[in-house]
Amino acid sequence: MTVLAPAPARTRRSTFFPNLRRPLYPAIKSESVDPVRNPYAPGAGQRPPELAGRDRELQQFEVVLERVARGRPERSMVVTGLRGVGKTVLLNTFKSMAMQRLWGTGKIEARPDQSIRRPVAAALHMAIRELAPRHRAPERIEEFLGVLKAFAMRDPAAAKGTSHWSPGIEVPASRGRADSGDLEIDLTELFVDAAGVATDLAVGIALFIDEMQDVPAADVSALCAACHELSQTGGPLIVVGAGLPHLPSVLSASKSYSERLFRYARIDKLDRDAADLALILPAREEEVEFTPDALDALYEAADGYPYFVQAYGKVAWDLAPRSPITLEDVKVSAPEAEEELAVGFFGSRYERATPAERDYMHAMAQIGDEPVATADVADALGRKPSSLSPARDSLIKKGLIYSAERGLIAFTVPHFGKFLRAQPV
Ligand SMILES: Nc1ncnc2c1ncn2[C@@H]1O[C@H](COP(=O)(O)OP(=O)(O)OP(=O)(O)O)[C@@H](O)[C@H]1O
Ligand SMILES: [Mg+2]
Repeated sequence: MTVLAPAPARTRRSTFFPNLRRPLYPAIKSESVDPVRNPYAPGAGQRPPELAGRDRELQQFEVVLERVARGRPERSMVVTGLRGVGKTVLLNTFKSMAMQRLWGTGKIEARPDQSIRRPVAAALHMAIRELAPRHRAPERIEEFLGVLKAFAMRDPAAAKGTSHWSPGIEVPASRGRADSGDLEIDLTELFVDAAGVATDLAVGIALFIDEMQDVPAADVSALCAACHELSQTGGPLIVVGAGLPHLPSVLSASKSYSERLFRYARIDKLDRDAADLALILPAREEEVEFTPDALDALYEAADGYPYFVQAYGKVAWDLAPRSPITLEDVKVSAPEAEEELAVGFFGSRYERATPAERDYMHAMAQIGDEPVATADVADALGRKPSSLSPARDSLIKKGLIYSAERGLIAFTVPHFGKFLRAQPV
């Protein structure tokens, strides 16, 4: 006798009418761990379902905002850490906190070899647009926009006529302020004026700079000088940065007083409790649990690195047949998670390196996972250290390695050494 085959399990996932999903939740929840409701979010800058283990930094930033709002002298914040540790996500959270206080906010992502003039202009434009509707004197806003436009148009590329870029500001550009062409002077004037607009509203302006280590050296110096000037006048504008671990040394190489300008917050992998919370709390929302040994295995695999926590959690969820998610589920899913990381997290970065740079990184990986001496890398490759400087410098520029301290280098990507050792040379 033939029995009609039951409908394949995946129909539930693929032929879902979105409007029926909610009413059906109660019906399907006991059945399995539903991939549609997978809460985990591996990906650059992806907001995690639970921002775990960052309470201290959030509190610090709360204090910064409060002090600036009260006109107290305050150092701004710079978040540093390895790749995938959650810098962008934290910066975005800071931005939301500032917006909640009705501050004007803008954000840029620095790129090597690109002046920050235009991006800063665009970001401050955003910030002012947030404030404008609440300002009682439209002419103050227009006046500032005129200065902003003049600042943006002083871009050397635009001046040479190589670009028809326009900042998208309707007001005519003003003259004689923030348009000298010297970025330090222009940024200072622009920041002071922007802070003035925010002062009218008794709020502040926060400018967020992600990948701050990529800001060109001349611009870093101008930026620090402008922040320095602003900190002396007490204007309510702060620059909040995020970048790789060597960012503090990039800043202090350009201005020795930068250490007094910024409060550095180094963020690292999550401790066991925080990593567990990052997995458990979002699952609980969906009425899914983990067994304790599943959590042990997940911590061992992810090593507390936020990106890995999301990546392993996501695949374990997708492959688990039912709640609770067990050790067995984690074991079955780990190879797939590793595969995805090998392509998306490690591979995409490895691809960016030239053959010579890859040799350099393989040599680093063979030496060990701690920061390694550049001299040892040269030894391992049988080369003179000076002949390897170009490879090293371009790897630093590409953000794959950083100089941990004088003569020592390390990978910016956690577990990169392990990944490289598993690659065929
Ligand atoms: N506190 C946290 N708790 C849980 N997950 C987090 C946390 N912070 C970040 N994540 C997750 O980690 C991943 C990486 O975050 P993010 O892109 O912010 O890292 P990053 O430090 O900016 O990396 P990169 O240096 O490559 O830009 C994202 O998937 C995010 O959801
Ligand atoms: Mg980032």
